[in-house]
Amino acid sequence: MRYFDAIVVGGGLAGLRAAIELNRRNVPVAVISKIHPVRSHSGAAQGGVNAALGNHYRGVYDTPRKHAFDTIKGSDYLADQDAVVRMCEEGPERIYELERWGCPFSRNEDGRIAQRPFGGAGFPRCAYATDKTGHVMLQTLYEQAVRYEQLAERSELTFLDEWLVLALAYDGEACRGVVAMKSTTGEIEGFHSDAVIFATGGSGRIYAASSNALTNSGLGMAVPYRAGVPLKDMEFVQFHPTTLVGTNILLTEGARGEGGYLLNAQGDRFLGHYDDSKRAMEVAPRDIISRNIQREVLAGRGFGGGYVHIDLRHLGEERIVSRLPGIRDLCRSFLGLDPVTAPIPVQPAQHYTMGGIDTDASGRTRMKGLYAAGECACVSVHGANRLGGNSLLETVVFGAIAGSSAADDIEGSKATRKGAQAVEAAAAEQKARLDKLRAADGPESWADLKETLGRTMTEKVGIFRNAADLREALDAVRDIRSRFGGIRVGCRSAGFNPELAAVLELEGSIEVAEAVVAGALAREESRGSQSRTDFPKRDDEKWLRHTLATWTPDGPTLDYAPVKLGHFEPAERKY
Ligand code: FUM
Repeated sequence: MRYFDAIVVGGGLAGLRAAIELNRRNVPVAVISKIHPVRSHSGAAQGGVNAALGNHYRGVYDTPRKHAFDTIKGSDYLADQDAVVRMCEEGPERIYELERWGCPFSRNEDGRIAQRPFGGAGFPRCAYATDKTGHVMLQTLYEQAVRYEQLAERSELTFLDEWLVLALAYDGEACRGVVAMKSTTGEIEGFHSDAVIFATGGSGRIYAASSNALTNSGLGMAVPYRAGVPLKDMEFVQFHPTTLVGTNILLTEGARGEGGYLLNAQGDRFLGHYDDSKRAMEVAPRDIISRNIQREVLAGRGFGGGYVHIDLRHLGEERIVSRLPGIRDLCRSFLGLDPVTAPIPVQPAQHYTMGGIDTDASGRTRMKGLYAAGECACVSVHGANRLGGNSLLETVVFGAIAGSSAADDIEGSKATRKGAQAVEAAAAEQKARLDKLRAADGPESWADLKETLGRTMTEKVGIFRNAADLREALDAVRDIRSRFGGIRVGCRSAGFNPELAAVLELEGSIEVAEAVVAGALAREESRGSQSRTDFPKRDDEKWLRHTLATWTPDGPTLDYAPVKLGHFEPAERKY
């Protein structure tokens, strides 16, 4: 068993920013990550990061308050307003910090950070680095973290890569650490700590059709959930309007921000039929555009196989090459077409988990010593629908906040080092569990169960939902959960056992999926990304509240908590 004053689980943007903050506060910290940090899914974010820098006037001077309003309206008023205001106020500082650290943002002609329009703002607020924004932010933060790791006069920052965290260690008083499996050897170790920050990303891979990396299984959410920390608002799942047909690789909202058109099979720029004002069009929020694409497909105006086109040809080669080079590469590699000369087939797919580990605006959870930040957390700044460009912002703002809260709490208690027995006991329990699992020889294959889970979620818990489909999905997920009891692990090797890892991740996916479906079935209204055809209206009287799912061995129990208002009155959401 090793001790670190603080542990960050996850090496993506939120995790790295939290680790840097702890290190700046002289708190020794270990970053435990199941993959190398620069391979984290944060690196797949393309289009940009919102912040009210006000670098493009075009008649509108941006402010954090405007950004907060757009975010809250975009969330269909389910976001906690104190947290949103904090994120939008701290946003510019976090972007300029990245700039100082060398993040190669694209530039305006006057040399300032370039911004492009993204959904919800109506003018350029989204800072970007061509269409590789997440990638360059991740490289920048990793460089900074490594720099801190190597500065002898500072406290330590230790990277533990390729360790899969399996369980929390906790007692009646607080979180005491985590238990993890080293992927290369299969060894189980307890990590004792006074502060544990989860920053493990989203759970998109509970869906078959998703823009997410395969690593986004949801296990990082399931681990605190099993330990009694509720998952909040899990029914709110974002479908990105434009993913490449066939692979569902992300095609950035930046393509629409740069002026791309969505066209149906008749060559009609159909969004105009749904948007009376004809103002937002392609840069309306994602929930709205995804629904309208789906409506076109359901009405038979899509292409066979259920997709539409995004057309960039009128932007011209120079703009495509300078602003969207990654998209051009992806289209050439995966579709064999060049967007300079051909429209791109796209369809909506799961993209983002608005819900997550119930966390307040300081990054604290209700378990002492446990914090969460980034996509695995639900603070909540996205409510029922996230604006594009706000997730990268959330990672750096709340990564820093969670790190700072943990440092404050450690300073307050002088790093107690209490609870080592809880870590030893949790490690022994996980060792016994894994010994049993390694020998599991039942009839069920993890690949079949994962395929059934993904298909069920994509077909029954998608953009449009209804009670009958959701009940079917709930029965199917429960059936998968019970079949998981008869799982087989064919690969017996101790180290480098991807089958064992897949089984462990699948168990987390099943638990998270059940929380999504149960929350969606119970919420009898339409709000943001949850569009119930049997309850088509938003119902503030009954449903302006957060869902809290608590783990039990028989599936989640649901409870509700008020939304924090106070800055903007809930109003009808028109674009
Ligand atoms: O469309 C995109 O580039 C994705 C950005 C985001 O999810 O915020």
